[in-house]
Amino acid sequence: KVEIFKTKASLQAYLQEARKTDQKIALIPTMGALHEGHLSLLNYAKPLSDIRVCSIFVNPTQFNDPKDLEKYPRPIENDIKLLESVGCDILFLPTVDEMYPDKHEHWHIDLGELDQIWEGEKRPGHFQGVTQVVYKLFTLVQPHVACFGQKDFQQVMVIKRMIEMKDLPIQLAICPIIRDLDGLALSSRNMRLSEEGKRIALALSRSLTYVKDHINDAIALREVKDQALKILTDTDGLSVEYFAICESTSLKEVDHIDFSKQHVALVTAWVEGVRLIDNMILNNL
Ligand code: PAJ
Repeated sequence: KVEIFKTKASLQAYLQEARKTDQKIALIPTMGALHEGHLSLLNYAKPLSDIRVCSIFVNPTQFNDPKDLEKYPRPIENDIKLLESVGCDILFLPTVDEMYPDKHEHWHIDLGELDQIWEGEKRPGHFQGVTQVVYKLFTLVQPHVACFGQKDFQQVMVIKRMIEMKDLPIQLAICPIIRDLDGLALSSRNMRLSEEGKRIALALSRSLTYVKDHINDAIALREVKDQALKILTDTDGLSVEYFAICESTSLKEVDHIDFSKQHVALVTAWVEGVRLIDNMILNNL
């Protein structure tokens, strides 16, 4: 059975005991509405740790759209069942007041360009909110390893930078994107799509796969990108927010692939009023 802690103090007291016996702690931060993608992070953490702590907290400071925050699904009973099905040890389930006793708490971390481009540009303040809550969870849980999904590629790069900047002794585990059989990346937001919407949304993974399959062709990367973009713009019911081919760590857009560095294609698009995000690593080093 998963043990549920709703306060920082009770969680800390429990973990303090565990640390005395040298148990390795893994942290898997989530906002709930769990699916196979989240559960894959828990499975990934299993061989790396003795105790797995999953947090479920819909963090208000990372939402720039109040409607999005309000509409965020919160099926907690089902989440608990899913955590039990993968043998998760601890669920940390705080309230907003518990996480933010000071409503006006100030937080700022210099994320450089990562805060200005792609998700950073489209969702101002988003990564400040993400780092604010993840930093709180890191200091509270003091995990040996923290698991994040490649699904939110820029988020992983942001967390990596925060760990470096703050010298945190935490191993960052980056877990592969879990997709359904058709290729749609799993997301809590998919629940808001109709069957037709899900079919439309497949254009995201198709456009990314197109780039991955054609980066070795003897044509300009620009043309590969245009073809991939065409897959998206030719899809009725889908509107592209951005599509970019970038170097992985800086996330700066490139016009040719330097095969000594890792590259990633990023896409964000809207379907049926739902904002969908996906990415694909193009070359393995
Ligand atoms: P959330 O969107 O709930 O995602 C929690 C974790 O699950 C993230 O690391 C995310 O990348 C991963 N994840 C989501 N879908 C996935 C998929 N299809 N395959 C693999 N991993 C997937 O990301 C957040 O919450 C929040 O920003 C958080 C880090 C919890 C801070 O509030």
